[in-house]
Amino acid sequence: MSQNFEPFYDVNRTYEDNYAQGPFGAFAQALTQSETSGGVADGRSPSESFLGFPVNLPFGIPAGPLLNERFTTAAFRMGFDLAVYKTVRSRAWGCNAFPNVLAVHPRSADGLLTPGSAELDEGVLADTRYETPISISNSFGVPSRDPDIWQPDMRNAIAAAGPGQLLVPSFQGSRVEGMTTDDYIADHVTTARLVCETGAGLMAMNTSCPNEGHNRLLCHDPHLVGRITEAVKNEIGDRPLVIKLAYIPPVASEPWADGTDAGRYTYARVTDDSALELMVRQTVARGNVQGIAAINTISARLVDANGNQALPGAGRERSGVCGHAIRYAGLDMVARLAAIRERLGLDFAIIGVGGVVEPSDYDDYRAAGADAVMSATGAMWDARLARRIKER
Ligand SMILES: Cc1cc2nc3c(=O)[nH]c(=O)nc-3n(C[C@H](O)[C@H](O)[C@H](O)COP(=O)(O)O)c2cc1C
Repeated sequence: MSQNFEPFYDVNRTYEDNYAQGPFGAFAQALTQSETSGGVADGRSPSESFLGFPVNLPFGIPAGPLLNERFTTAAFRMGFDLAVYKTVRSRAWGCNAFPNVLAVHPRSADGLLTPGSAELDEGVLADTRYETPISISNSFGVPSRDPDIWQPDMRNAIAAAGPGQLLVPSFQGSRVEGMTTDDYIADHVTTARLVCETGAGLMAMNTSCPNEGHNRLLCHDPHLVGRITEAVKNEIGDRPLVIKLAYIPPVASEPWADGTDAGRYTYARVTDDSALELMVRQTVARGNVQGIAAINTISARLVDANGNQALPGAGRERSGVCGHAIRYAGLDMVARLAAIRERLGLDFAIIGVGGVVEPSDYDDYRAAGADAVMSATGAMWDARLARRIKER
């Protein structure tokens, strides 16, 4: 195991223990320092901008591992200039049973999973052997505190950003028994309003966790996302709205067909990208969305060494894979979004997420068209990732 192995989110503890006692490792040490060391320590002005906000480096941690203000403040101090506060809801929401994280080991020599591959349904080996380059599965169920708790905490998190740093709140709607579609849209609007009340200057809406029943994601319904983002944008006014998408495959071609070229996959060989383009048309082109973050985890059947279900409990046969294994799926989405942006002559920010575990991954995402880049799993296993990118 890598010497950096002391994730700031401790996968061997429950979510509740992490929330109450975390962060751990280098992030815990960063909190004991009196001032920000990851910001513009040398007195330079922020050199880049993200959705109109000045940032030192458009790199950070996406929704999930930063559970509360202590985590986001530690991230800022470790030089992650974009810190997304874990997805919140309009109401308290419980967490799936422990364990919530397992290491995953794709069959291929390069450790990559390609969207649509048979392995995702046949089963990917999952256990507690954490190795680098790190790939994991996470199964939390998007837990949330009650707004009475997360609102004051989010307000403090926003205030803790240093010069050239930005706290990005993440939220999603909650679908409960008996809700109509209008109720579901209204729940998004309510949650966005609660986020505005914390003083947030922008926000990210998650459309890529299972909200709509078994294996159905909100982002697979572009028309509903269009209706929701219109209602949310009416509520939040000029504040930029980012939507977070799962991997959306191209319609009639195979982006992986050419395999590797000198060790690098050829991505974005797409002739019909109408599903992703429809999403952009329903959101960005209508003026309701200013940024798209992609991707979230890729769903896979997880099995132990005997081929049995790896995560305990009903409804957990499949779980979302993240980290190194999904790197090319993320790059593929970013390249296709950049192509659509150009084709439609639109102006929106692309936030590249998925399998960023090394500084060179940051470069590859920027080259593919990302305006900002984020790492969840990679940052969990390497608290110095932002500093390593900046030190080069
Ligand atoms: C521990 C953990 C918790 C996560 N929780 C959320 C969440 O609450 N909301 C969300 O939109 N994405 C969540 N994600 C997904 C990440 O934001 C990201 O899209 C995904 O992990 C792919 O990035 P990575 O390969 O760098 O991990 C979570 C990821 C991890 C590792």
